[in-house]
Amino acid sequence: MPAVDFHDGVNKGVAPVTYGTGSRPPRGDYAKARADYTCEQAYAQYTEADHETYRRLYTRQLQQLPGLACDEFISAVQQLGTPEHIPHFDEVSERLLIATGWQIVGVPGLIPEEAFFALLAARKFPVTDWIRKPEEFDYVVEPDVFHDLFGHVPLLFNPVFADYMQAYGAGGMKASRLDAAELLARLYWYTVEFGLIATPQGLRAYGAGILSSAGELRHSVTSPQAERVAFDLQRLMRSRYTIDSYQATYFVIDSFDQLFEATAPDFTPVYRQVRDRIAVEGEIAAGAVLAGERRFSANPPARG
Ligand SMILES: [Fe+2]
Repeated sequence: MPAVDFHDGVNKGVAPVTYGTGSRPPRGDYAKARADYTCEQAYAQYTEADHETYRRLYTRQLQQLPGLACDEFISAVQQLGTPEHIPHFDEVSERLLIATGWQIVGVPGLIPEEAFFALLAARKFPVTDWIRKPEEFDYVVEPDVFHDLFGHVPLLFNPVFADYMQAYGAGGMKASRLDAAELLARLYWYTVEFGLIATPQGLRAYGAGILSSAGELRHSVTSPQAERVAFDLQRLMRSRYTIDSYQATYFVIDSFDQLFEATAPDFTPVYRQVRDRIAVEGEIAAGAVLAGERRFSANPPARG
């Protein structure tokens, strides 16, 4: 079979090759998606069982949020609408557009990074339109509609975080040209997916991978088994991560402003410095701690 080039970010109507996935291609019907990989949310195709899965996932996560999720997330999660059924993407988009100028768009599943960056840069967040099977209730390999909506969308209602996500997309388009997408992927992983924030009340989660996970939400904030180090852009870009277990290291920001400002400058010299340092000192293993590094201790275990 001839190789298909996905690096132009244009949908060819078949499941794309994406990084960070398993041995089988992503599920999802790419034949129905447009050239930019977006698709209509086929709402009528959801079954009662699908809505029930969403309701159960939402309810389980919601009750875990107090004391573990950041306030910005908790105050915005209701913007998703009733947990009784999978939200209509256009209804969430209407509210999001008013709040921060973002929209959500349906996609069949994982999409190539070039297409992903282009959507973020246009303030469009791609949301997978299918939901996991009941037997995948506790763990699904690829992001589904619950991960994408519940995990990612509430913080897009926060103006500073919303600007950070757009800047990330614009930076990604440039990083692809500089062959630095892997370094930038680490930034996404350790902030957007698995980021923690320090608050006067203690550590809180803001990363979608944590917030949509039944077990990692509590683990990330309260487990003594994990390392939590202060956010440092170059340190983070030198750090490997794990995809098949809870994170061994979490990076902690002081505020969303700090995150936005640290990532606002042109990354071109940053990539060069990170690469030079990796060439001399190597990458940093997940769970490793550097001498003199600012660390955070776990919150005391929450009740319940
Ligand atoms: Fe995600």
